[in-house]
Amino acid sequence: MNIILLGPPGAGKGTQAHHLVATRDMIQLSTGDMLREAKDSGTEMGKRVAEVMARGELVTDEIVIGLIREKLECGKGGGFIFDGFPRTLPQADALGQLLSECGETLDAVIEMQVDDEALVDRITARSTCSNCGEVYNDNTKPIPADGVCTKCGEAHEFTRRADDNEEALRNRLMEYYKKTSPLVGYYYAKDMLSRINGLGSVKDVQGSIAAILDR
Ligand code: AP5
Repeated sequence: MNIILLGPPGAGKGTQAHHLVATRDMIQLSTGDMLREAKDSGTEMGKRVAEVMARGELVTDEIVIGLIREKLECGKGGGFIFDGFPRTLPQADALGQLLSECGETLDAVIEMQVDDEALVDRITARSTCSNCGEVYNDNTKPIPADGVCTKCGEAHEFTRRADDNEEALRNRLMEYYKKTSPLVGYYYAKDMLSRINGLGSVKDVQGSIAAILDR
């Protein structure tokens, strides 16, 4: 089963993707994670995208489609979770093409709806384990007092993302509403769209997603 988690920055796409990976043998393909890896490894492409990401703007379609093409291994695991991809109409067309070349289909597009105020609260409180990528939140999932990550059991640094500040977040939201939200209509017209309330607890949202995947 191949699905897209669609939603603005901070909607909880990564949090829910991690749960699906752990419980359903699915494979998460997050273009944000791939771009951050490229940035950290200091490749030419990584250097080019670093500033664009820090400003909260979208990286070119050519780069992100190339990344997905590289990582999409046909027929592997329990299906793919596309997290943060596609983000533009050309990316959505490219994904359809790539999946059909694999003989695969897209089974569901889940739009996670969260209002802007909650997004700002979530993003400005987020931190990540630098060892395993587990996501924490000062308000809802604080870093353990002993500094040991609950997922990897190691005491490494917990970092904040360079684009998790109010100015970059304003741009990220504008980019979402201008360039990504048209995908809601695109997938609705293809009868693939399901909408869920992303404002509930992490468990509630897991339940809403499971209800869609299991129907
Ligand atoms: P990307 O990494 O994709 O970031 P994003 O879309 O802005 O989404 P986030 O990762 O910020 O949020 P999320 O929805 O995963 O939320 P999370 O689960 O962490 O992209 C970064 C940049 O890369 C882009 O700006 C762009 O420059 C570039 N890029 C990436 N893909 C691209 C593409 N396809 N095309 C072009 N450019 C691209 O949760 C957030 C916080 O909330 C956490 O602290 C979490 O603990 C908490 N939380 C989660 N769920 C809940 C809940 N239900 N209740 C309370 N708290 C919750």
